[in-house]
Amino acid sequence: MLRRLLLVLSLVLPLAARAASAGSASVDERVRDLLAHMTIEEKAGQLAQFSSWGELTGPAANTPLGPRIEKGEIGSLLNVTGAAASRKWQELAVTSSRFHIPLLLGYDVIHGFRTVFPIPLASAASWDLDRIEHAEHIAAAEAASTGLNWTFAPMVDIARDPRWGRVAEGAGEDPFLGSAVARARVRGFQGSDLAAPDTILACVKHFAGYGAVQAGRDYFTTDITERVLRDVYLPPFHAAIEAGAGSIMAAFNDLDGTPASANALLLDRILRREWGFKGFVVSDWGTVRELMIHGYATDLKDAATKAFRAGLDMDMQADALGKYVPELVRAGVIPESRLDAAAGAILAAKFRLGLFDDPYRYSDEAREKATLLTPAHLDAARDLARRSCVLLKNNGVLPLAATVKSIALVGPLADNPRMQLGAWHAQGRAEEAVTLRAALEKQFPGAVHFAAGCDVRGDDTSGFAAARAAAQASDLVIAALGEADDQSGESSSRTSLDFTGPQLALLRELHAAGKPIVLLVMAGRPLSLEQAGELADAILVPWHPGTMAGPAIVDVLTGAYNPSGHLPISWPHSVGQVPIFYAHKNSGRPEPQNKNDRFYSHYLDAANTPQYSFGYGLSYTTFAFDDLRLDTNVLKTAGTPLKITVRVANTGQRDGEEVVQLYVRDLVGSVTRPVRELKGFQKIPLAAGESRDVTFSLTPADLAFWRADMTFGAEPGDFEVFVGDNSDAELAAKFKLE
Ligand code: NOJ
Repeated sequence: MLRRLLLVLSLVLPLAARAASAGSASVDERVRDLLAHMTIEEKAGQLAQFSSWGELTGPAANTPLGPRIEKGEIGSLLNVTGAAASRKWQELAVTSSRFHIPLLLGYDVIHGFRTVFPIPLASAASWDLDRIEHAEHIAAAEAASTGLNWTFAPMVDIARDPRWGRVAEGAGEDPFLGSAVARARVRGFQGSDLAAPDTILACVKHFAGYGAVQAGRDYFTTDITERVLRDVYLPPFHAAIEAGAGSIMAAFNDLDGTPASANALLLDRILRREWGFKGFVVSDWGTVRELMIHGYATDLKDAATKAFRAGLDMDMQADALGKYVPELVRAGVIPESRLDAAAGAILAAKFRLGLFDDPYRYSDEAREKATLLTPAHLDAARDLARRSCVLLKNNGVLPLAATVKSIALVGPLADNPRMQLGAWHAQGRAEEAVTLRAALEKQFPGAVHFAAGCDVRGDDTSGFAAARAAAQASDLVIAALGEADDQSGESSSRTSLDFTGPQLALLRELHAAGKPIVLLVMAGRPLSLEQAGELADAILVPWHPGTMAGPAIVDVLTGAYNPSGHLPISWPHSVGQVPIFYAHKNSGRPEPQNKNDRFYSHYLDAANTPQYSFGYGLSYTTFAFDDLRLDTNVLKTAGTPLKITVRVANTGQRDGEEVVQLYVRDLVGSVTRPVRELKGFQKIPLAAGESRDVTFSLTPADLAFWRADMTFGAEPGDFEVFVGDNSDAELAAKFKLE
C-alpha cells in the first residue's frame, strides 16, 4: 500500500510538493515548499478540525466530513477510535486531497488510554515524576497504536477551588509542582522523537486561567490580575512549552474581558513573542462560535477574524476559520503571511510526526492488538495508583493485620468498575477494570462480606441493613465512598464538597456497629471530611485510581506497599473555605493582637487552615527532619547557588518513601509575596532506621516573580526557608539575597 501510494505521489505532485514527501529537506523547507503550492482555501482547510462522530466530547454540530476531507477542507479530526477507522480517514485524506496531506488525529488521552491510570490529580499526589512520565509514555503508545497522533493533554490548569470539577484533570494548586508534572507529562507523550511509532504530539491546555473560573462554575468567567496570571497560572504552560509541547489549546473562559480564544495577550504576546512558541494553537470545542455568545463578536465571521488575528490557528468544531479565513485574506483584512504561519505550524507538526513519510504509521491493527492493555501496562497502572494514594489519618488500624479474619467491604465505590476509572477515561472499559472487591476477595478468600450499602446519588437507604450486618459480622469495615466518574471532570462543578447521596448516613450506620472503619475516599476532588473523618479510624485517599484500582488499594491496605502520596491540593474542612491554598498572602491582620482581638482575618465558624495541608501525607513508618544547614547565609545575585541541606531519617519500623519539600518566603517585596512557595522537592526511599542528607540548591532565578513594575526577577532582601513533609513545615532557616 505504501509503495503504491508513494508511486502515486511521485506522479501527481508538483516537484516542490514531491520534495515534501522525499524526506531529505528540513521540516521548515518542506513546509515552505508545500505552502507555496497550496491555494488560500487549501491552507485554510488545515485550520479546521471536527469530531469524527465516533464520540462527542462537546455539544453536537453537523457537517458532512468525507466530502470536505476530499476537498482538503479539513486538517484534523478528533475522536476517531481504532486503527481501522483511523486508517480509513487517513486514506481518504491522503488519496483524495490535492496534496495528499494527512490528518492530525486528536483525542483526550488524559490519564491513560485503554489502560486507565489514576486521574491526573491523583498521580500528581505521587510526586513521582519518573513514573508520571512513564505512564504518559504508555498512554501515548496505546493511543498511537490505534492511529492517533495527537493528545489534548496535559491539562495544566492550576486549580484552587475544588468545586470546579476539572480539578480532577490537573496537578492541583501549585505552580512549582504543576510545572514539574507538566514537563514530565510532555516528555512522556512526545518522547525524544515525535516520529517514533509510540509517541504523540502533546497539547498543553487550557490556556489560560480556566482553573480560576468564578465560584468554581465550569465555563464561567475569570477575574485574574496579570500578575497573578503570570505568577500562578502561566508557569506550568511555560514549563510545558519549554519541554517541547508542540501544541496548546486556548481555554473556554473570558480573561479580563477577552475570551481566551481571541486573546492576543495570551496567544500572541506571551506565547509567541515572550516564550517563542513555534507550534500551533487549537481552540477548545466550539469556542470560536462562543465568542458571539460571550458578547465579543457580532457574527461567526467577526469571531473568526478576532480569533485568527489574536493568534488562534486551528478551530475545533466551530467551522469558522476554515470557512472565513479565505475571504478575510483575499479582502486584505488579514495578511496571507498570518495564514501561512498558522497552516505552516500545523503542517510542520504533521511532518514532525512523520505522517508525510507514512500516513499510516500509527494505524496498525496488529500493533494495536499487541499494545493495548498489556501486562506491563497494567503493572505500571497498578504501581502508579498505589503511589498516588494519600494516607490522611491512621490510628493504627492500617496496615491490615495478618490476623484479620473478616472484613466488611462497603460503599458504592467498592465494586463499581466504571466509577473507579474517573473522569475522561478515554477508551478504558469497565469490564477490564479490577475492583476493590475483586482484589480484596482474592487477597482474603472467604473473609470479605460485601454490601454496597447505597449509591452515590439518590436517597435509597434500603441497602443499609445489609451493610450494617456485614459490619457486625466482621473484624473491621472498609468503606469505599466518593464520587462517580461523572461527578468530577468537565461540566461537573458542585457547590458542596459533601459526600453525595446517602453516603455519610451509611458511614454513620457502620460506625454504630462499633467496628474500626477504614474510609477510602475515591473521588476526583477533595471531599469534606469534617464529619466523615471523625467516624473513621483511618482515611486513605485513592482518588479515582483507574483500571487497577483494586490491586493497588489492596497493596496499600495490606502494607505490601507503604503509602507515599502527599496532597497536591489543600484539603478544606468545608466548602465555605474555598478557594483555599497554602501560598496565600499574609494580609495586614493574619493573627489576633491579643486574646480579645476580634478584628483580624478569620471566620467566626471555621479555622483559616485546611483540614489537611498541601503536601501532607502519612506513611506506615515515621520520618524526622533535622540539622537544616545553609552553606551560606548570603546568596549573591551573580554568585553560586545556595545549598540547603537537611537530615531526613526513617524513625519507624518499615521501609518507606518520603517527599522532602522545600518552601521559601520572601519577607518584603515591591509587591507582597505569598507566605510560602514550594521551590523544590525530592521523593526519596529510606529503609527503616536509615537517615540521609538531602540537598537542594536555590538560585536567584528560583526567587523571581513579577515585580511592581511588571518586570520578572528576584529582589534583594531577607528570605526564610522551610523544609519538611508538608506546607506547614517548621524546620526553618534564613538567608539574604544581595
Ligand atoms: C472540551 C474540553 O474542555 C477539552 O479539554 C477537550 O480536549 C475537548 N472538549 C475535546 O474533547
